[in-house]
Amino acid sequence: MRQFKTISAIDGARVKINGRWYISFCSNDYLGLSQHPALRRAAKAAIDRFGVGSGASRLMAGTFSLHRQLEKAIARFKGAEDALLFTSGYAANLGVITALVKKSDTLFCDELNHASLIDAARLTGVATAESRPYRRGARLFIYRHRDMEHLKTLLKAKIRNLGASAPVRATNVGAQFYIVSDAVFSMDGDIAPLKEIAALAGKYKATVILDEAHSTGIFGRNGRGLLDELGLRDNLCNLWLGIGTLSKAVGGLGGFVTGSKEMISYIRSKSRPFIFTTALPPAVCAANIAALKIIRQQPQLHKKLWANTDYIKSLLNQLNPLNPVVSETPIIPVVIGDAKKTLQVSQYLWSKGLFIPAIRPPTVPVGQSRLRISISALHRPEHLDALSNHLLTFIRNP
Ligand SMILES: Cc1ncc(COP(=O)(O)O)c(C=O)c1O
Repeated sequence: MRQFKTISAIDGARVKINGRWYISFCSNDYLGLSQHPALRRAAKAAIDRFGVGSGASRLMAGTFSLHRQLEKAIARFKGAEDALLFTSGYAANLGVITALVKKSDTLFCDELNHASLIDAARLTGVATAESRPYRRGARLFIYRHRDMEHLKTLLKAKIRNLGASAPVRATNVGAQFYIVSDAVFSMDGDIAPLKEIAALAGKYKATVILDEAHSTGIFGRNGRGLLDELGLRDNLCNLWLGIGTLSKAVGGLGGFVTGSKEMISYIRSKSRPFIFTTALPPAVCAANIAALKIIRQQPQLHKKLWANTDYIKSLLNQLNPLNPVVSETPIIPVVIGDAKKTLQVSQYLWSKGLFIPAIRPPTVPVGQSRLRISISALHRPEHLDALSNHLLTFIRNP
């Protein structure tokens, strides 16, 4: 059974566990904002004004002015008409997909999508077309990871069989096609081929549901995300539904979806993971608003993150020139393969004061166990040097 590692103190990229300080390489706090003084101040001021909990679900008595302020700030940041908050990114994926996807619809999902997208697909009562007599919900087709030829083949075959109506609108009643993908894949650090996905979505009249959990705050102009980076943002209201989380680079907590006013209003009224849960605390909203402002106004944080990412990649490539790092993001997997061996490396690094958990099945497929290194703007060069040196020592004396 898995065990917790309980943090009793935190200082930049270092965390204290069982009385000892470790350099953490496993937080998703990419920009280090969770500890930023402006977020602390904003949260404290909101607690003084509103108290701690929100007391009810959003549609009952749980909507505070800060919830709407944050939703407007997210919509502005993403260049969308409107946004809706959820209590986590997981809840956002569940909430959006279960609200929108009908029994007559068809989902096309990348095989390495995050667990929350997979669970969401399952909750629509998905079954394959082959088991249609027993089907309770939408059809699900999995395309090979980032394989656009495979996606195209599936879309082509299914459109012939099933037919699909125009891109989804809240009031649409016809059968819909949805392409569902992570923007940045959380265990491999690679990115989805969004331009190709956009082209296929346009051709086959599909709506894209894109999870920007690991790209918000990292890619695009001042962290607006991968769609923005690729110049696809203008499509947001018709082709794309953008989902994201505030709990990674934004440094707070909560999930969100952006889209047209009509779509957001529909999800607000239909989504069970939105309706039947207590709203985010106002202080969390205040901290998230402060974080979005910093992300917009302080590009030096991105620069630091990317400088650290480039530096560790160059060190790792020197260590292992035959197997260069392919990740395009601050998520850097070091694939070891065997689960036991991966655990050994992780334990060795732990003994040297480095916190990098071993990622094993079922989180990744059998034979692909890995160290998942997460880089932050908080890392200092000596932290990255320590990681590279200890890895080198282990490679030489396993
Ligand atoms: C791609 C992806 N989507 C969604 C989530 C869930 O976000 P949250 O942690 O805010 O629930 C995660 C985080 O684990 C993720 O990696």
